[in-house]
Amino acid sequence: MSETATLSVDEVTPRVTSGNILIIDDEAGIRDSLETLLTLEGFTVEMAPEGRSGLDMLTRHAYDLLLLDLALPGESGIDLLPRIKSLSPDLPIIMITAYGTVGNVVDAIHAGAANFVQKPWDNEKLLADIRAAIGRSQAEQEVVHLKRALKRRYSFDNIVGKSDAMLRLFDLVSQVAPSRSTVLIQGESGTGKELIAKAIHANSPRRDKAFIPVNTGAVPSDLLESTLFGHERGAFTSAVAAKKGLFEVADGGTLFLDEIGTMGMDMQAKILRVLQDRRFMHLGGNSEIQVDVRIVAATNVNLQQAVKEGRFREDLFYRLNVISLDLPPLRNRKQDIPLLAAHFLKVYAEENGFSPRLLAAETLRLMMDYEWPGNVRELENAIERGVVLSTGEAITPDLLPGQLRGNTYSTDLLEQKPDASLFDVMEEIERRIIADRLERCNWNQTEAAEYFRIPLSTLNQKIKRLTIEVKKRVRE
Ligand SMILES: Nc1ncnc2c1ncn2[C@@H]1O[C@H](COP(=O)(O)OP(=O)(O)OP(=O)(O)O)[C@@H](O)[C@H]1O
Ligand SMILES: [Mg+2]
Repeated sequence: MSETATLSVDEVTPRVTSGNILIIDDEAGIRDSLETLLTLEGFTVEMAPEGRSGLDMLTRHAYDLLLLDLALPGESGIDLLPRIKSLSPDLPIIMITAYGTVGNVVDAIHAGAANFVQKPWDNEKLLADIRAAIGRSQAEQEVVHLKRALKRRYSFDNIVGKSDAMLRLFDLVSQVAPSRSTVLIQGESGTGKELIAKAIHANSPRRDKAFIPVNTGAVPSDLLESTLFGHERGAFTSAVAAKKGLFEVADGGTLFLDEIGTMGMDMQAKILRVLQDRRFMHLGGNSEIQVDVRIVAATNVNLQQAVKEGRFREDLFYRLNVISLDLPPLRNRKQDIPLLAAHFLKVYAEENGFSPRLLAAETLRLMMDYEWPGNVRELENAIERGVVLSTGEAITPDLLPGQLRGNTYSTDLLEQKPDASLFDVMEEIERRIIADRLERCNWNQTEAAEYFRIPLSTLNQKIKRLTIEVKKRVRE
């Protein structure tokens, strides 16, 4: 997409053979000869003998080009230019004059004329200039249109992002989704891998069939094997009835192999075989089953590294890595933060039946400064929490989780408050430490006291003395 937006105008200029042209000229002879010339070439022509009626026509009709006489009686063409520009900012204008001095040319070009033609003109040259100007303007409008389309794509199936990395990813997803190629999605935890996997499925011809996620890292190998491949009755002690495997359930659809990086070596070998020919057997079965399944895999461990360290089969890595999508950590695309925040503010205000919420400027600043080790998931949780706890319209910094507010207990406080003593500063620091911890413990004072290794009664006294406002517990 971004490539399209940077196409040079000339590369996309088609040959112009039609268009609606307005001529403003006081000489009837000039108007007539221009009309004949242009009509013969396929253009539609409308004419005005002076500026006022010309402006009037511009307010009522859309034109592709204006031929404007410089030496009009009354207001000159150059005088008219600013008003024409304000009426139709994108209208290409060619000035006509018999008295084309260098000064006039410069003035007119500055005022927004696209070109200049001197009387008596050369028909071919004039036609070429007109076609070029209309073509350029159409191409420019096309680029504007594409840019707008690009903006609309700041979201893709509920996936929000405006960073170059995310825009590229949206393009890649729409390119690869229609095929059956295996896709490997890599990225840190919480970067949106599952969301992308779903978008691939939803934008593929398989969208009406099943999308089956399976966490291959969390399930023990023997259970995973029967889950994926199914089993016949009696295949193992607890197999009292035959059961289909997820490869069959996903037939015609997409199987999302999540956390593939932590899958055991023995399972890796078995999966590899299915990926090669999409055939497998039930556990305890003896006939092969053929399926049509698209595989999308995800991992938050670096698979290449795992291959090097002998924890992941190289052949399986290459099978999976046909198309690879990398989700950058949020700290490397901070320009997405305001957009994501706005997205989640809307989602959680609606979910809770609240009026729209917004971020206080200081809240956003803290969010921009933070490194987000838990990526988008952490951001989502922070916003959800802020919305739930908010009583007014704005999410103020005190509604952010403690780690965002920064636990830099420094003596800067001394500088900020010139009359504060060391004791004041220590009290302030103590207040922050306790408030942060309470918040992290969901205002469970017993838990906080245990953390500080002090009796609950001592914590209570401190809370009172430091006038820490104890909030209600949000949820477990
Ligand atoms: N670009 C995004 N726009 C909107 N929501 C997002 C985006 N990225 C992630 N999310 C949301 O963040 C949460 C985490 O995303 P997801 O579960 O897809 O991450 P993941 O990479 O699979 O994480 P993990 O490795 O921990 O499984 C989800 O609630 C998801 O909807
Ligand atoms: Mg996930």
